[in-house]
Amino acid sequence: MKTERQNGETYVGYEEIDQCSNPAVVRPIGEIINLRLSRRSVIKSLAVAASGLVLGTLPGREVLAGSLANPSTLTFEELENGYDRYAHVAAGYDIQVLLRWGDPVTSDALPFDVRNQSAEAQQRQFGYNCDFIAFMPLPRGSKNANRGLLCVNHEYTDTNLMFPGITSREAVENLPREQAEIEMAAHGHSVVEVQRTGSVWRTVDGSPYNRRISALRTIMRMSGPAAGHERLKTAEDITGTRVLGTLNNCAGGVTPWGTMLICEENFDAYFSGDPAVTSEARNHQRYGMTGVSKFSPSWAKHHERFDVVKHPHEPNRFGWVVEFDPYDPASVPTKRTALGRLKHEGAGVVLNPDGRVVIYCGDDERFDYVYKFVTAGRYNPDDRDANRDLLDHGTLHVAKFEEDGTMHWLPLVYGQGPLTVDNGFHSQADVLIEARRAADLMEATPMDRPEDVEPSPATGRVYVILTNNNKREADRVDAANPRANNVHGHIIELVPPGNASAVDHAAVTYRWNVLLRGGNPHNAADDASYHPQVSDNGWLTCPDNATFDQQGRMWITTDNSADEKTLADGVYGCDVEGAGRALTKLFFSGPRGSEVSGVCLTPDDTTMFISVQHPGEEPGSDFDKPTTRWPDFRPGVPPRPSVVAITKRDGGKIGA
Ligand code: FEO
Ligand code: CA
Ligand code: CA
Ligand code: CA
Repeated sequence: MKTERQNGETYVGYEEIDQCSNPAVVRPIGEIINLRLSRRSVIKSLAVAASGLVLGTLPGREVLAGSLANPSTLTFEELENGYDRYAHVAAGYDIQVLLRWGDPVTSDALPFDVRNQSAEAQQRQFGYNCDFIAFMPLPRGSKNANRGLLCVNHEYTDTNLMFPGITSREAVENLPREQAEIEMAAHGHSVVEVQRTGSVWRTVDGSPYNRRISALRTIMRMSGPAAGHERLKTAEDITGTRVLGTLNNCAGGVTPWGTMLICEENFDAYFSGDPAVTSEARNHQRYGMTGVSKFSPSWAKHHERFDVVKHPHEPNRFGWVVEFDPYDPASVPTKRTALGRLKHEGAGVVLNPDGRVVIYCGDDERFDYVYKFVTAGRYNPDDRDANRDLLDHGTLHVAKFEEDGTMHWLPLVYGQGPLTVDNGFHSQADVLIEARRAADLMEATPMDRPEDVEPSPATGRVYVILTNNNKREADRVDAANPRANNVHGHIIELVPPGNASAVDHAAVTYRWNVLLRGGNPHNAADDASYHPQVSDNGWLTCPDNATFDQQGRMWITTDNSADEKTLADGVYGCDVEGAGRALTKLFFSGPRGSEVSGVCLTPDDTTMFISVQHPGEEPGSDFDKPTTRWPDFRPGVPPRPSVVAITKRDGGKIGA
């Protein structure tokens, strides 16, 4: 994800958004307990207990006795970390580039011609900056690992890597209409049928399932408690129930009935115009709008709905979780307002033993919150249609972490607690549209940028990926966010009540602990915590997305936000139980400038799909002089964000 960070005249690329829009981050002094040392010793003693082999410690690193078998269940030989133009995978595995920016998707798509782009062509081709991936088996309901629909988000665009000659902020601000619309068409989502023959994956040209969803063309429906509300009505849509397109689709999820959830993240960054002069000033400012579009300052010049002064309600129509049915190419994507309006990273879906569906979400901003939604109704496995609007009714909760290792899920319900007229909430629609402000009033715990929140299908425990927070100061650390200037991020493990076969994800009280703190454990200054046997190559920084394999092991992707990167982002395998718990190992690394996201496994664990997002996005890099031309390496062709398929040469399971 991107923040605009100009570097002289040449850099117009993007990194993380350098902001914090939560004014309520200062905790009462009585709550400011620096548990850094005490929690660290707890983690160490857990690691000691797990390995049973630690003799003593050096600064930041434990010393092991004798020669030890590596306790990880992951048997691959890990990569050496580094930073170069190429993608790398562990020995014995192959990388196939399956889908690149510009590849034809629909049957009427033109071949990619980077020197002759158009919005009409892009609307039919694979979009830019691939992110979340789901593999949806064909036929629907099967566990077929050889044929399915690859459903892929397209988060944002890198103007200076897509088009020649864009070497200044001024050029980005003055994009011609056609280029602005190419960008809009490159956002959204692609559905592409894929098939494996032997070990080779290919796309199925002309599949009737193939589809593009975009910010430019796709009409969507609003549903749930906020649909039709005054604050969702605009000049283009006087009903408040129809909206054009989706923005900044980051991660997502899959429902038990086989629909996709795609999440709108940094929607604020597309809007221009001073929010302070609008009827929605407080609301827009809480979501980070400053008057200057960070991603697409030219869009409002060509499509005035992106001007908040003229259309102050338009941003209220973004920031939602969007549901659509990939098995029905005509299905109308639906923004499910009951899940609240946030900068959603993703949607971690789990079916509770009582049939209710629970969806965990992180709101990715410094000092924002972790949420979960619990449906009111129950999933019906026998009647797919009966689940169609299950996500329109239920309760959104926000997380409050206690210092004693418990946590509470606080309901965001109109009329309850402070969520009343006195605080400007007149309905549940108001609570959902301003979910952040509602959560502030409930005194939720401000976190270090919550990204994926993923339940483990094996154990029911839930992993909260906190990518980093360089704005947390020493007097603001707490047990759940234990480091000041947390540039490396950490991962929290939530433990709902119940046993492994009947974990209650609808409960309001859980326990929690820290799984690991990112950074280099061999560098005392990083104050990292890991399994004592993590190697120089296996430590990670800035965890972002995660998934689980059938054995319950976690696969973690990273989005390193260092100013000058020297360490490639990658995919790390990690046990979460047993002697190898929190022992991360580097499996895949991306080319320079890229972030790695969207990690997804086939149902038999023999293929891992990965999004390589924004290759070449770094200072001094642009269309004409990119720092990598991955994956084509053809003169004149810039780097292309792509989905890769990783297979094991012997046909076995990933990680083995
Ligand atoms: Fe789009 Fe939070 O990363
Ligand atoms: Ca990203
Ligand atoms: Ca992400
Ligand atoms: Ca990220």
